[in-house]
Amino acid sequence: MITDVASYMNSVDSAAEYIKGFLPTAKEVPSVCIVLGSGLAPLASECEDCISIPYADIPGFPVSTVPGHEGRLLIGTLEGKRVFMMSGRFHYYEGYDTSVCTLYVRVMSKLGVKLLFLTNAAGGLLDEMKPSDLMVIEDHFSFFCDSPLRGPNLDEFGVRFPDQSFIYDKECVKLLLETSRELGITLHKGIYSYSKGPQYESPAEIRALKMLGVGAVGMSTVPEAIVAAHCGMKVAAVSCISNLAAGISKTALTHEEVMENANKSSRSNCDLVKNFIKKWSV
Ligand code: HPA
Repeated sequence: MITDVASYMNSVDSAAEYIKGFLPTAKEVPSVCIVLGSGLAPLASECEDCISIPYADIPGFPVSTVPGHEGRLLIGTLEGKRVFMMSGRFHYYEGYDTSVCTLYVRVMSKLGVKLLFLTNAAGGLLDEMKPSDLMVIEDHFSFFCDSPLRGPNLDEFGVRFPDQSFIYDKECVKLLLETSRELGITLHKGIYSYSKGPQYESPAEIRALKMLGVGAVGMSTVPEAIVAAHCGMKVAAVSCISNLAAGISKTALTHEEVMENANKSSRSNCDLVKNFIKKWSV
């Protein structure tokens, strides 16, 4: 929870000012920020005219601690569009407060970003899902998420009691589904439920979530989507189903299985994101 507003805003402002230094003209400021979850790392190498800034160099930014979530901000061009790419994100299970996990979202908002494109690895609950499938998120459960908006409201970003009816932009969901059909990629549509982690869910928890209509479970995305919506940004989000959720899967879950399946879906995941970006306009 934010206790010291001045110090938090100082971090947001110094990070934004530092990044602006790499964007000499207004036309170079991207309107989209893509967060590269597990399996999407190869997209970083497709970023053209790329500037790569380690998180550790950005004043006010936390530093990622998870192997495979290498921390750097990329600024460049993807499919002809200017983009920010976050290679590595911050998770509550690493010990960060949700207000810290989402600080970068507010920095992106300050820089003028209009769309936050979140990707993640998640456990799948839908009967028709197979490992390495993809799911576009159309809504979420934040029941188990410490609200990143708890504490004094940052009025310059948004209102105290923000509506949650339209977090995941409907046009983006439609465009992602259309794009997946054109590419021949299976894209499920569903609700993502947040888990604090780092432990995976128990089979009983998964049975309960399945009854509530949940399509996928994961340990990121929801705090970021809440903050982006609070800032008035649009949100699009895609989960890579890196495993069937606990109890649905016949075997014990491991991080290795998650990474392996996320990597298997990498090609289709990157193609989907790239082709979406090509078509998307502000
Ligand atoms: N549960 C929570 N988070 C996850 C999972 C899961 O099954 N797979 C990948 N991230």
